[in-house]
Amino acid sequence: MQILPLSPDHAEVAARLWSESGLTRPWNDPRADFRMAVSGSASAVLGAVVDDAVVGTVMVGHEGHRGWMYYLAVAPSHRGSGLGRRLVEEAERWVETRGIPKVMLMIRAENEAVARFYERLGYVDQGVQVLGRFLDEDLQRLREDTPDR
Ligand SMILES: CC(C)(COP(=O)(O)OP(=O)(O)OC[C@H]1O[C@@H](n2cnc3c(N)ncnc32)[C@H](O)[C@@H]1OP(=O)(O)O)[C@@H](O)C(=O)NCCC(=O)NCCS
Repeated sequence: MQILPLSPDHAEVAARLWSESGLTRPWNDPRADFRMAVSGSASAVLGAVVDDAVVGTVMVGHEGHRGWMYYLAVAPSHRGSGLGRRLVEEAERWVETRGIPKVMLMIRAENEAVARFYERLGYVDQGVQVLGRFLDEDLQRLREDTPDR
């Protein structure tokens, strides 16, 4: 198994993995997220690849101050064998080699159980409240109309 930066060609398989891992939402196009991340110089999607199959991903990027991880997912068939940890460690290395001293991530309220996983890896609550606002009113309305958010 190799962990390496994915290319635009992997957009579809990554989006499928994210969807089956419960990480996608109806108001957001994961393929567009993927393509933007792999085309920017301050971001990447690292993938765990076995025989050309993508079995794990983590999106990583920075804005010059902090590194951020998104879309950490391991295919159900490969969970529980240390791959999630390896992906986080690779993302940490990606951030560190760019001179950024800290890496952060957000956990959705309904996925609170995954906090135990990050705790095992040394992550702790930063005491930060995350606020956000859609700049596109249509997206805001779609989110409000979607029961499972
Ligand atoms: C979270 C996820 C990436 C973990 O991947 P994984 O490959 O199964 O995790 P690992 O095998 O590397 O586990 C690393 C450690 O965390 C522990 N761990 C993993 N999942 C855990 C959980 N849900 N609760 C408590 N501990 C957990 C493991 O026991 C292991 O502990 P150890 O180091 O003492 O042996 C995977 O379950 C997943 O893809 N979930 C769905 C997507 C998701 O929720 N992503 C996070 C979005 S914020």
